[in-house]
Amino acid sequence: MTVRLHVNIDHVATLRRLRDTRYPDLVTAARTCLGAGARGITMHLREDRRHVTDADVDAVRKVVADSGAVFNLEMALTEEMVSIASRLRPDVATLVPERREERTTEGGLDVALGERAVTAAAARLASAGIRVSLFVNPDFAQIEAAARTGARTVELHTGEYCGATDGAEKARELARLAAAAQRAGALGLEVAAGHGLYYDDVGPVAAITEVVELNIGHGIVCRAVEVGLEKAVREMVAAMGPR
Ligand code: PXP
Repeated sequence: MTVRLHVNIDHVATLRRLRDTRYPDLVTAARTCLGAGARGITMHLREDRRHVTDADVDAVRKVVADSGAVFNLEMALTEEMVSIASRLRPDVATLVPERREERTTEGGLDVALGERAVTAAAARLASAGIRVSLFVNPDFAQIEAAARTGARTVELHTGEYCGATDGAEKARELARLAAAAQRAGALGLEVAAGHGLYYDDVGPVAAITEVVELNIGHGIVCRAVEVGLEKAVREMVAAMGPR
């Protein structure tokens, strides 16, 4: 069985936001990802709308549905976001912590602390037909709390693993992910993982038996610049035309 790749296209929107241009187009990006083998598209509609907009999620949700792939909406646990999700009906809603001053999602959701609020939101989302996933650190306490909320999936935060600089630390973080995945699987939760993954460290995470899905964004968008730059320059030279 191969692990499903869901591409997070937030950073395509980040590039557009840098100049508030009409490009790059998120629908085109989503179609390209699905055409290349991704099984789903993930987008984080942040409360401050710093990259992805409400119009983006509406448009991408439609093309993803038409292609039969999975649309995963990452969102904070707020009334506004739960209402938006209930209307939009993504296939999956992933609850993540959100702080305005952070550059990206910095840690997992503290489900152990906010168990009642998470349980209530999970019930509302599930009643709208949405599968609920919780983005958590690979800690047993968080996973056990997640299992009590009614969520169907946990997405394990791979940031510490990706950020580990020496081999021993990397091996320790990988073992932590594997143990957390095993615990989640034993509790009947589906296991996804993501954050900070790159081409040279994705393999060992994808090899963890219980992990069935990876959410990857920044690394893929960065690599797209490296592998796509030549074609982009050729197209600009052609667009300039002869004199
Ligand atoms: N999963 C979750 C829950 C996230 O918040 C993010 C970042 O938006 C990702 C996966 C993807 O992380 P990255 O962009 O570092 O691949």
